[in-house]
Amino acid sequence: MSGQNTEKQILAMVILLVLAVASLGAYTWFDNGRRTEARSEILTKDAERAAFTFARNCRECHGNDGRGTESNSALVGPALNTPNNTYAFLTDNQGQLEALQNEYRYTITCGRNGTPMPPWSIDQGGSLDGFKIDNLVTLITTNAGNAWEKAVEHAIHEDEVSIENLHIALKTAEATLEASGWFADIEAAQGAVSRSEAADAQLVQLREAVAAAEESGEGLQEAQDALTVYERDYTRLVLAAITIRTSDDSAAISTARETFAVASGVEQEVAMNRAWLKIASDYRTAEQNVRTAEERFAAGLPVPTPATQVTSNTCGQVSAELGDWLSAHRGSS
Ligand code: HEC
Repeated sequence: MSGQNTEKQILAMVILLVLAVASLGAYTWFDNGRRTEARSEILTKDAERAAFTFARNCRECHGNDGRGTESNSALVGPALNTPNNTYAFLTDNQGQLEALQNEYRYTITCGRNGTPMPPWSIDQGGSLDGFKIDNLVTLITTNAGNAWEKAVEHAIHEDEVSIENLHIALKTAEATLEASGWFADIEAAQGAVSRSEAADAQLVQLREAVAAAEESGEGLQEAQDALTVYERDYTRLVLAAITIRTSDDSAAISTARETFAVASGVEQEVAMNRAWLKIASDYRTAEQNVRTAEERFAAGLPVPTPATQVTSNTCGQVSAELGDWLSAHRGSS
């Protein structure tokens, strides 16, 4: 009897023990899952924040979706949204992932000297802090939560707003042109400017003096200064001419007329023609801006176009030429 009891007790204890071990295992597994989930949530948040930063700063070169020259040869930046960049993350290769992340963090911080890739960190003259740069690195090397799709959404939204604003600017330019009574004929305006300027003896003389000084290499500064002073007066006259032709504010018009009254007849004519040229070109430019933006948008290209500057001298890097010169110099001394 008592022997049977002991056997039962042992069995019960074994069962309890098995249950305890199993529940601990289950808890550990569950907790790991929770931790992984929390980590991926953080990565997704970081990558999504970066998607916005990317749309604001990077897409004009690397493309709206980050596929750069791979998606369109009109872009100047290489693909960042590419399977190569997320491979280490997806295969859980920590060492490779960290190496890539360090490289990209450095590239984004410092830019690439000798290429159009600009430096982004604030202490290198850029506009992004370390947190934003880290988030960009996360976006590029993990694409967590498919954040590149968010980048495209931001891009489309930003471009739609820009195009809307360009249409507003065109409407304004059109209204100004209409109020002026001139036409959007730039060549005609240009011709009128040239003819009236040729009749302005003082302007012709000042320009000839600059040309002569350039030739002889003497008195160039003085000649240029004299021309600049004369041209500065014209700037005021042109603004007055625009007010006279386009404003509906009678007080502003009478002030503009007073400014005009002290100028000579030929100066008034030059100013009027320059005002026409400015209004016509502003209108043409506004029209061209809308057309270019809409064409780029339709082609899937970012509406903003990149600056064409080449990066140099960031993070203590020297240009290739200077580097060669320095090493040659060091070798010889
Ligand atoms: C004015 C154009 C331009 C802008 C804007 C720009 N880039 Fe670049 N980026 C480039 C070019 C060009 C390269 C390739 C440089 C080279 O030839 O090595 C590059 C390279 C890179 C690389 C290295 C890619 C690789 O495979 O080695 C990264 C990462 C990068 N850019 C991230 C960014 C991020 C993030 C931003 C925005 C904060 C950005 N870039 C904005 C032009 C640009």
